[in-house]
Amino acid sequence: MGRIITVISGKGGVGKSTFSANAAVFLSKLNKRILLVDADINLNNLDLIMGIQDQIIFNASDVVHKRCNAGKAIIKNVFDGLDFFPGSINPGDDPTEVVAGICELLKELKGDYDIILIDCPSGVDSTVRALAKISDASIVVTTPDLTAIRDANRAAILVYGEKTEDVRLVVNRVRPKLIEKGLAPDIDEIIDNTEVQLLGLIPEDIKIQIYSNKGILAHQVKKSRSAKAFENISQRITGQEVPLYKFW
Ligand SMILES: Nc1ncnc2c1ncn2[C@@H]1O[C@H](COP(=O)(O)OP(=O)(O)OP(=O)(O)O)[C@@H](O)[C@H]1O
Ligand SMILES: [Mg+2]
Repeated sequence: MGRIITVISGKGGVGKSTFSANAAVFLSKLNKRILLVDADINLNNLDLIMGIQDQIIFNASDVVHKRCNAGKAIIKNVFDGLDFFPGSINPGDDPTEVVAGICELLKELKGDYDIILIDCPSGVDSTVRALAKISDASIVVTTPDLTAIRDANRAAILVYGEKTEDVRLVVNRVRPKLIEKGLAPDIDEIIDNTEVQLLGLIPEDIKIQIYSNKGILAHQVKKSRSAKAFENISQRITGQEVPLYKFW
């Protein structure tokens, strides 16, 4: 039976989708069967980050409303062992109904995958709560900004409230020089304020932004600083006892 892991944040734009896409690829490279789910049904964009937008015909809303079955909506083997389930809502469809339908479907699909990784919308609303209810674990993503850190804590409180036992923190866009100069909160401070145990760190990496616009992920980029970080975090997700990847 696979594990369902939600990727949440509180504050928007901190890198949940970037993290989900890259972690999913590295998890599949570890021979895990992965279903990557775009659950940001109103503002979905994970297909663009994955560079597979042209392959999408049906979405989660079509499955929930029985316009097609899940097998038709899921894009198979985006990378070896990695399937993609596109979220998005069609005009007129009820979002609450679609989210409830996605949750039921993911529970059924648990047996087919090692990990179902869900890229959630930002915020702490009913969608995130519904997804947290079916999750075995949550990864809270934050940047080293006070505003994001506070919202990450609120997101963590939400998932702790839903009895998610395994909650871990990813700090994205880390700039060691700013930390050294005391111009950004240090990692211990971020852990204390989010009240979440650390899973990993991802550096600020201009290549992420540049290549993301072309649908190219970190593992495809030569000398990518962030690829090592995504790989390290993926190893730690699967329980490998590897030390935290430090890029400074
Ligand atoms: N480590 C990084 N270094 C540089 N840019 C990054 C990094 N991580 C993410 N970004 C950039 O930050 C922006 C927001 O990333 P992303 O869309 O993944 O955030 P999100 O949390 O999913 O946003 P939303 O809340 O809107 O869903 C994108 O332009 C992305 O390329
Ligand atoms: Mg996103």
